[in-house]
This record gives sequence, C-alpha cells and structure tokens, in this order.
Amino acid sequence: MKVVLAYSGGLDTSVCVRILQEKYGYDVVTVTVDVGIDKKEIEEAEAKARTLGVVEHYTIDAREEFVRDYIFRAIKANANYEGYPLSTALARPLIAKKIVEIAEKKGAEALAHGSTGKGNDQFRFEAVFRTLVPEKKIIAPVRELNLTREESIAYARKHDIPVAAKKDKPWSIDENLWGRSIEGGELENPASKPSDEIFEWTRVKRKETEYLDIYFEEGVPQKLNGKRFAPVELIMEANKIAGEHGIGKIDMIEDRIVGFKARENYECPAASVLIEAHRALEALTLTRQELRFKAGVEQNWSELVYHGLWNEPLRFALDAFTDTTNSRVTGNVRLRLENKSFAVVSRSSPYSLYSLEAVSFEDKSMNQREVEGILKYHSYQPGRYYAVKKL
Ligand code: ARG
Repeated sequence: MKVVLAYSGGLDTSVCVRILQEKYGYDVVTVTVDVGIDKKEIEEAEAKARTLGVVEHYTIDAREEFVRDYIFRAIKANANYEGYPLSTALARPLIAKKIVEIAEKKGAEALAHGSTGKGNDQFRFEAVFRTLVPEKKIIAPVRELNLTREESIAYARKHDIPVAAKKDKPWSIDENLWGRSIEGGELENPASKPSDEIFEWTRVKRKETEYLDIYFEEGVPQKLNGKRFAPVELIMEANKIAGEHGIGKIDMIEDRIVGFKARENYECPAASVLIEAHRALEALTLTRQELRFKAGVEQNWSELVYHGLWNEPLRFALDAFTDTTNSRVTGNVRLRLENKSFAVVSRSSPYSLYSLEAVSFEDKSMNQREVEGILKYHSYQPGRYYAVKKL
C-alpha cells in the first residue's frame, strides 16, 4: 500500500512520514515541490527522507510553472487578501497537483499532507485532491492525531527525527518565490512585537536611495532596470533589490478560512513592488469603468484563491477578464526605493489614456466654458432632493 506525501522536510511533514509508516502501515513516497525554496533545504529534505526510510523520494522543480501560471496571474489580479499578497495560498494548488501526478504514476491509493486542522492549507490541498482524484484516500496525520506543535517536536525526538525548530525558535515558516510567512511561538500573541531574527528577506543592506524601473508587457513584468529576465530570475531579482531595501514586511491580523483570526508575519519584497507598479500602470491605461469593475474581480479572485478554490470555474472566468484588460497594460514604471519604503515616481505607456492637452492648466485647446452645461445638471438630483424635502 502506497501513500504519496507532500513533503517539505520540516517538522510536521517529517513526523508524518513516521506516522504513515508505523500507524498506518504505508509505504511512503515523499515529494518535495520546489516553488522557490532554498537549495540547501531541498537537499536536506532529500537526505532526511532517505534516513526516514521512504520507498521513493521526488524533487520537482516547479518554479517556472509557478511563476508563469500562478504568480503572473496573481499580478494581473493584484492579488491581495486583507493586506496579504497571496503567496502560500498561491503555491498550494500547484504542489497538490504535482502530488496527484506522482500518485497516479505510482498507483498510490492515498495522498497525505502535513497540515494541521487549524489552518488554511488543509483546505487548499484537499480541494485539489478531491477535484482531481476523488477516489483517492486523504490522510492528514497531524490533524488526525490532534497533535500540538510541542507534541510533534516530542514525537520527532522520540523517533530520532532531526528537527530544526527549537524550543526558543518555534516558528513555522513557509517560503516560496512570492513570499515568506512566519507564524507560531511568541508571534501568536498579537500584542507582542516580532523579534528581528524572524526576518530573512528584508534585512537592510542598501541604504542609498535607488530607482527601480519595471517594464511590463500585457500586465507581465519583463524587465528590471532595462534588463530582460526570465520569469523565475525576474522574481528573484526583484526580491533581492526590494528586500535589501527592507521593503515588504507585513505584520497583520488575518481571517482564516475556519473563522479564527490569526497574527501573521510576511516578507514579500517582490510582490509588494511588482503589484504596486502594476497598479500604477493600470491606473494609466484602463478606463474608469474597467478599474471600478476590476476592483471587484480582484477581491473575488483573491478570496477564491485564499480559500483554495483554484479549480473553481469562476477563477478561470475572472482570469479571462484580467487577461483582456491587461492586454493594454504595457509600459514602464519607475519606483524610488528609500528608508525601507518605496513610491511610484513615474509611469508611461504606449496605451496611456492620459491626455496632457485635456488636463493641463497651460493648454487652451479645450474651451473651459463648454463644461458649464455639465455642471448645471451634475447636481440636479441632490437639488431635487432638497426641493422635495421642503414640502
Ligand atoms: N496565512 C498564510 C496563508 O494561509 C500563510 C500560512 C503559511 N504557513 C506557515 N506554516 N507559515 O496563506
């Protein structure tokens, strides 16, 4: 009997391997899907899987697919849930899809993941599993045994599983190209200030003011400072530049799917600057009506994806909308990076709807008097309201 486990090499998934072997009697196949995790961690995960005696281990480099089919769509949708530029939420459906592919190839009867029963990731994994292979069994050992993090650590110690999480650094970290999330330990108290050591991507290394040019084609970032990058490299470079300026730290309260509020800390330098630059270009190239309608599309897209409903047909329809509107989102945006923050300082596009003649104080091509008629009727209805009110 075979089970395929989504395996990061972290505490929870390592504990899962043992439980699946000992308690459930499965042959375990582990799969680490690389969506932009540290190379060293991937090697460690591989080595750890072998010491745990898995029957097979796969490492799948899904970074290119992640950027093209997930991150670029998120940019077009300015994806953001309550202030969180979706990162973990964005990668889970892709990881789940890869797990399903291996399970089918190996003829496994079950799929497993290391999520707890309190978080969002169980929804995201299982939504994909149930949609693509409803006949397969799903096992979530940590949830099933109702384990606390401390119990997981104790279980790991007892079973000679090496653990990185220490009692004084008990954070649960999830990382991919689009962001890094840190939760747990003292961070769970929203009144406590996070200690600096939890941050890795936003340590300030560049103190001088710097300008960053981002060039988009049809809503997709293609160049940084005039240099064309392949998708994965572009995101990494944007993370490096913005991160070294200390940009992209978020400390927030987030409403989880199950209804709890959670304190979350994120580092998302590339997501912060690329989405903001993208918005600036949309403001220049889309009509007022498109922008107004798109805000609702963005909210719907982000909620669907946060809730793990990547395969919901509505998501495809919303993507069709963001593709259509973004066909004119081409051009350059310049950002100024300084003092751990950034601002858009210029934007330009061949599809710009901006008319300098129309808006400029210095131009006479519009006869200003022509607007009088519009003004006369602009407040017609509030005028009627006061007239009727007096009766
Ligand atoms: N709250 C975020 C989300 O639901 C991130 C969760 C990441 N998990 C973690 N163990 N740090 O998408």
